[in-house]
Amino acid sequence: MRHRLLVPGAVALSLVLAVPASAADFTPGAPGVGDTYYPESGNGGYDVSHYDLRLKYQPKTDLLQGTATLLATTTQDLSRFNLDFALKVSEIRVNGKKARFATSGKHELEVTPATPLEKGKQISVVVRYADKPSQVKIDNYSAWARTPDGGVVAQEPDAAVWWFPSNDHPTDKATYDVSVAVPDGTQALSNGVLASQSSKLGWTRYNWRSDKPQATYLTTLAVGKFDITTDTTANGLPVINAVSKDLGANEGSARASIARTAEATEWLESVFGPYPFNAVGGYVPNVPAHYALETQTRPFYGKKAFDRGTNVSVVVHELAHQWYGDSVSLKDWKDIWINEGFAAYSQWLWSEKEGEGTAQQLADYVYAQHPADDPFWKVRPGNPGAENQFDDAVYDRGALALQALRNKVGDKVFFGILKSWPTEHRYGNASVADFVKFAGKKSGTSLDGFFDTWLFEPTRPAAGAAGRTLGVRHTAVAEPKSWRQIAAATHGVHGVHGH
Ligand code: ARG
Ligand code: ZN
Repeated sequence: MRHRLLVPGAVALSLVLAVPASAADFTPGAPGVGDTYYPESGNGGYDVSHYDLRLKYQPKTDLLQGTATLLATTTQDLSRFNLDFALKVSEIRVNGKKARFATSGKHELEVTPATPLEKGKQISVVVRYADKPSQVKIDNYSAWARTPDGGVVAQEPDAAVWWFPSNDHPTDKATYDVSVAVPDGTQALSNGVLASQSSKLGWTRYNWRSDKPQATYLTTLAVGKFDITTDTTANGLPVINAVSKDLGANEGSARASIARTAEATEWLESVFGPYPFNAVGGYVPNVPAHYALETQTRPFYGKKAFDRGTNVSVVVHELAHQWYGDSVSLKDWKDIWINEGFAAYSQWLWSEKEGEGTAQQLADYVYAQHPADDPFWKVRPGNPGAENQFDDAVYDRGALALQALRNKVGDKVFFGILKSWPTEHRYGNASVADFVKFAGKKSGTSLDGFFDTWLFEPTRPAAGAAGRTLGVRHTAVAEPKSWRQIAAATHGVHGVHGH
């Protein structure tokens, strides 16, 4: 609806007040948000609140056509600003007017609006594009995986640049409407709930909505032929699970694993507090990957995750991320322990509940498996470096640190922290330092030195540093029943990124 009625006095007043700022005040937005590991990720000068992606994908040719509409607020006077995007663009409009654009760096798109943008204003940016995402390579790599029946994009830390223009850093979260047209008989999956679906002239359009703040790398798209099951949890939360019709011998184990999603979510709520999003589920496309990813509301599982039968541990891990990583996101990629340490520890707690080894037994086992001279201890989970971001130590030493914390502060304080952290930081961003401060406050003592030992020293902590003595000789510590599943969920995931 348009308001065509204008009060003459108000017009006169706004003319008087519209003093143009001098051109010199308008400067380009930064090409990155200043991430320690990935300086080009994200951009400065604006904050996105919503992405509307209207896409069409043809599996036969890998052609992705799209119109992305970004709603954002400027945070400085901008002469121009950057988007992160790698696909071929044909037109960009800012506030409805054609803008000039140029590419630079690995995935930067420099947008110069027809008129400079004042700080604190709402803007719209419309980007039209078409490209073959699996053929667009950065450092000889594409995050878009083409499958026999479609394509999938689910990667960390970089995924968005292969399918939509964005401010590609977890510190700028937004809501999403993802609408995708695919040939009839093929489905398109994304995050949240399926708001509607319609078919016309051989194409079916799926309209997905994720209505809570969501990081760019947690936004996913899968096109293919899936068996989709829908349900609601005991609490009324929609559950949407999808398994490729083309999984061969892994079909049963994949289905049986993600069938545990509602149950695992309910249990995680008892540990971490209320589930933060509008839907839950999981999907297993036909990609020959064994890693999984905590894509918001709908984790991705590579089909090889189920090569050796069901793996509920990986489902627990990805769902735990909905609280630790997705709702509470990291501030900087160096804070990866805020995600992985807790998701890994949730697998230890699940094992404890299932009677397959307590978290203490798993801690003993991990500690004893790695002698003091093992390079495992050289990785600092609190700041592992980009090349070790998904090293086994981030997960296993990361979880060990939490068991040490549990022993130090006691179960009551520890589980209080596990529940209050996601509640008090919901939909926000936090750093490792923020957690150290938070745990210190909740326990009433400074934990700076303690966390330095467990997360930041490149050496094995003394066996007694865990509050109780950990087993030292690996021959003396039995392998917990759950260990192989736990390890299969997370070990070696860093190797498949392709860089
Ligand atoms: N966050 C994922 C996990 O659940 C790890 C993904 C690693 N990235 C990759 N491309 N393998 O552990
Ligand atoms: Zn993880």
